[in-house]
Amino acid sequence: MSPPLKIGICGLGTVGSGTFNLLHENADLLKARAGVSLDVVHVGARRDNPACDLSGAQVSRDIFAVAADPEVAVVVELIGGTTVARELVEAAIRAGKHVVTANKALIAEHGNALFALAVEHSVQLRYEAAIAGGIPIVKALREGLSGNRIEWLAGIINGTTNFILTEMRDKGRDFADVLAEAQALGYAEADPTFDVEGVDAAHKLVILASLAFGMPLKFESVYTEGITRLQPQDVAYAEELGYVIKHLGIARQTNQGVELRVHPTLIPRQRLLANVDGVRNAVLIEGNAVGPTLYCGAGAGDRPTASAVLADLVDLGRATGSADPSQLPALGVASGNLQDLPVLAMEDVESPWYLRMEARDKPGVMSGLTSLFSEQGISIEALIQKAPLEGQTLVSVIVVTNQARQGSVKDAVRAIEGLDSIDGDVTCIRVEQLDG
Ligand code: HSE
Repeated sequence: MSPPLKIGICGLGTVGSGTFNLLHENADLLKARAGVSLDVVHVGARRDNPACDLSGAQVSRDIFAVAADPEVAVVVELIGGTTVARELVEAAIRAGKHVVTANKALIAEHGNALFALAVEHSVQLRYEAAIAGGIPIVKALREGLSGNRIEWLAGIINGTTNFILTEMRDKGRDFADVLAEAQALGYAEADPTFDVEGVDAAHKLVILASLAFGMPLKFESVYTEGITRLQPQDVAYAEELGYVIKHLGIARQTNQGVELRVHPTLIPRQRLLANVDGVRNAVLIEGNAVGPTLYCGAGAGDRPTASAVLADLVDLGRATGSADPSQLPALGVASGNLQDLPVLAMEDVESPWYLRMEARDKPGVMSGLTSLFSEQGISIEALIQKAPLEGQTLVSVIVVTNQARQGSVKDAVRAIEGLDSIDGDVTCIRVEQLDG
């Protein structure tokens, strides 16, 4: 058997401790699968974690000592963030070490430069754990689906948000209360606004799009909207219309460019994706040969994420155990011939829309509304007017449109908000049929 793969782990938080412990727990299995023993020889962490028995490994308070350690062949970056983490990954690559990371923000925002640096130094930068926790989605796209042109993908790619939406819907729990539980369970980001405002999902979406379409990482071009403005009545009305609201990341190839967008979305209740609840993630991918395929599993947490980190380490063990460097798998999103595809402006993106408005209960309101839609060439799929609540003069009017250009919908909405008969802003949520 080849000599062990010597690993340095930086960061002993939720994912770091999960990875450290799983490497020990599954050591025999991993050795059999990788063809080499996966040995943690150095741990860099600001403080010990009582969940980990670090005896047998060198421990440094300075994580850069791990990147500089000549014994270490692979640095596992699990500290998070984009500043120190970037410096650490660059230092490791420059020192000729492979890097495994779970850091989606780092890959999404600095991946183009980091992959180029990895190519320059003939090392691998691997990131299976960065997207959708334990789901092997990078492998699915890079290996299993490599015979397909990917048409589109849509995913529930933030476990915290899905957990919050599920608990609020099923148990009527309060937003802040569920978020606090997600933080305590280690699902949420250090800054939970990244979860609830959609930034974390945007990080993951841009990596998925890059893998799916062979384009550079364009994080700055993702349209990002979170779940903080969702109202309970919209969840209820969506259900009445046969839909479920999920927070989705969507990437689609069109003739005009690539759609990159993250937002709450109504999807038909009968779709499998609509039934993925709790902290689970799922990614639906439409390939031109295979059709739709769905990948589902735990999207956050110590052991699911560690599972993905270990998959990368096993691959590195297999590759580095081989004497032939040409056997190394493709490096990542920056290798090969990337196509600099344009990203479609959101006003040109087409989808059906759910619109809710509060109208004064008087004659002519409906005809005024429908003529504004027709002026923009928007046809109406469904329209509900609720009876006024006792003692109130306003009624909720819910419209679901057919497929329409966002620019036209926004023009119609502006005109509707200008009507005397309409009170306040119109609530606008996109709808996706996802019937690939
Ligand atoms: N905060 C992330 C989530 C963790 O909730 O999905 C996994 O990336």
